[in-house]
Amino acid sequence: MKIGIHDLEVATTHYVLDLDTLAERHGIDPKKFSIGLGQDAFSMPAPDEDIVTMAAEAADTLLARHDVSKIRQVLFATESSVDQSKAAGVYLHELLGLPANVRSVELKQACYSGTAALQMAVNAIARTPEEQILVITSDVARYALETGGEPTQGAGAVAMLITANPNLVEIEPGSGFHTSDVNDFWRPNDSTTPYVDGQLSLDAYLTATTAAWDDLAARRDLSIDDVDKFLHHQPFTKMARKQLAALAEHTGHELSDELIEESMSYNRALGNTYTASLYFALTAQLHNNENLAGKRLGFFSYGSGAVAEFFTGMVQENYRDHIYPEHVAKQLGNRVELTYDEYRTLHSDFAATSETYTTQPTTHAPFRLSGVTEFQRRYEAQ
Ligand code: COA
Repeated sequence: MKIGIHDLEVATTHYVLDLDTLAERHGIDPKKFSIGLGQDAFSMPAPDEDIVTMAAEAADTLLARHDVSKIRQVLFATESSVDQSKAAGVYLHELLGLPANVRSVELKQACYSGTAALQMAVNAIARTPEEQILVITSDVARYALETGGEPTQGAGAVAMLITANPNLVEIEPGSGFHTSDVNDFWRPNDSTTPYVDGQLSLDAYLTATTAAWDDLAARRDLSIDDVDKFLHHQPFTKMARKQLAALAEHTGHELSDELIEESMSYNRALGNTYTASLYFALTAQLHNNENLAGKRLGFFSYGSGAVAEFFTGMVQENYRDHIYPEHVAKQLGNRVELTYDEYRTLHSDFAATSETYTTQPTTHAPFRLSGVTEFQRRYEAQ
């Protein structure tokens, strides 16, 4: 039985900052961002947006095409959680009218946990193939101002429906894993921005993903040449090029950039979307490539700290009939461009507080955060 990604939808934020704007004000050559990091811009949430509003929008568009009564679980992966206790997916039940007889839980391991959610869903459906599972990856990547990480901020969500006999990608059994305790990137409970050792995070990423490939290669009869396209977690898109080069050196196989070229267009424009980044790479590859039917995708998932997984999926025959590139184009095109001063104010005004406040309606998205009362986050449809 085939099990995998049946359908997916994405969402991002109201605002965008062009990296040329940041480069100009910081006196940096814009090519450092566009070529050196492979990034053009990053999404930034309005005060009435967060991981829940983006997730709700992506899931709402997705579920409009499906029978919600078949959904049995909502697995919400994020590393920019809005509550230490309540799972972000529980808010979606009210906003989207999900049935009560659905399990809802949140998963965390930096940028990796969306993959854990996907694999948990695939395994659950192997036992009960008539059921469907909603997997959501949603994150806001906020780095401190005037740090190395500042140009690699971003925000976005990908909602995926995991089922038997999927329309898009069958996830093949057998993953390679690698876990090592490394402090390359972390965010303590009392900090709204992460601590990052940038160079260490690049090294840890390469070490862990290469080791995950080795683990898979030892368990499956699979050559690197059996993979038709590679997809990566892209904290910035240049990272995918670095990983492919390291993999080529490690395996002794020639791996051209054509194996990843189509996977980077959305992340270049969105910035780092943490858990969602790998699945934006998947979305871009499916949207940008007309000849993927029957082809094998290799997924490199990485979350600092650090956990990596390499797994594979087969693109289904009629996948082009089930993709909606125009929805992504609309999400990207509708964003309102920030001036540098507006960006700085928005960044500085962000506060993770449970004190009462009301947000001004800003976003045009279908769901918004109206504020906090009685220490509770309040969301509304609009
Ligand atoms: N034109 C073209 N390329 C240029 C350039 C220019 N004018 N100026 C610099 N570059 C290149 C550099 O050569 C480098 O490329 P390379 O790595 O291929 O050699 C790249 O731009 C970045 O330059 P660097 O000096 O390393 O930038 P930095 O010190 O500002 O840090 C990161 C870059 C990625 C380490 C930093 O942005 C960061 O920490 N980001 C967060 C990473 C993260 O989130 N990690 C956790 C998840 S994996």
